[in-house]
Amino acid sequence: PSNKCDRCSELFDNPLIHFYYTRQSVPKGLGDAVMQARTFVGQDHFVVALGDCVIVGPERSSLMNRLLQTHEQHSAAATIATQRVSPEATSRYGIVDPEGSADETALKLRDIVEKPGPDKAPSNLAVCARYVFSPVVFEYLDRTAPGFGGEVQLTDAIRAMIRDGLPVYAVPLLPGEDRLDVGNFESYAKAFIRLMLSHEELGPGLRKFTSELI
Ligand code: G1P
Repeated sequence: PSNKCDRCSELFDNPLIHFYYTRQSVPKGLGDAVMQARTFVGQDHFVVALGDCVIVGPERSSLMNRLLQTHEQHSAAATIATQRVSPEATSRYGIVDPEGSADETALKLRDIVEKPGPDKAPSNLAVCARYVFSPVVFEYLDRTAPGFGGEVQLTDAIRAMIRDGLPVYAVPLLPGEDRLDVGNFESYAKAFIRLMLSHEELGPGLRKFTSELI
């Protein structure tokens, strides 16, 4: 359609990009969901972007580029976006244990834990909805038993990769970048309002409109 946005055109009009989809018919966990893509991923390195989170930044976010660069530079088996969360929030996320800085933008990991309480959390750096993987992750997912919440956890497969000595890195969000949860009605509405109010073209009119409503 003629009203496609520039970003959509970049994707849909690019002959190098192919779209496939699959469905996880039973919600058996994020690890199981990623496994559904195994046949069309094949032997390529690939990105996992969780659809219930939007990453925003001052400009168009460079997070995915930074993840891909780190992944390539360090020949990583997995590279994970992370963000700082408050100690009370660690039980809602996968939490990483960084060994130290690998370079200015990346941290090498020595462990990762799914949803630990503040007393068990190895840091307050939380997994933040974007990952890059080597296809070796499928071999680990194959061997991953249900974990937290009785579900097959992607975090547990990554943990096993680290324990086997495979290189796994974290890329933290930069100041000004943020993760917006859009996974429930309230958080979706908040994210939508926030993004629309800051929209370059439509924001000023919408801000006036909402101030008249309140
Ligand atoms: C999933 C992951 C968790 C991660 C979170 C946000 O959890 O299992 O490690 O921190 O996404 O990226 P969920 O939100 O599905 O409970």
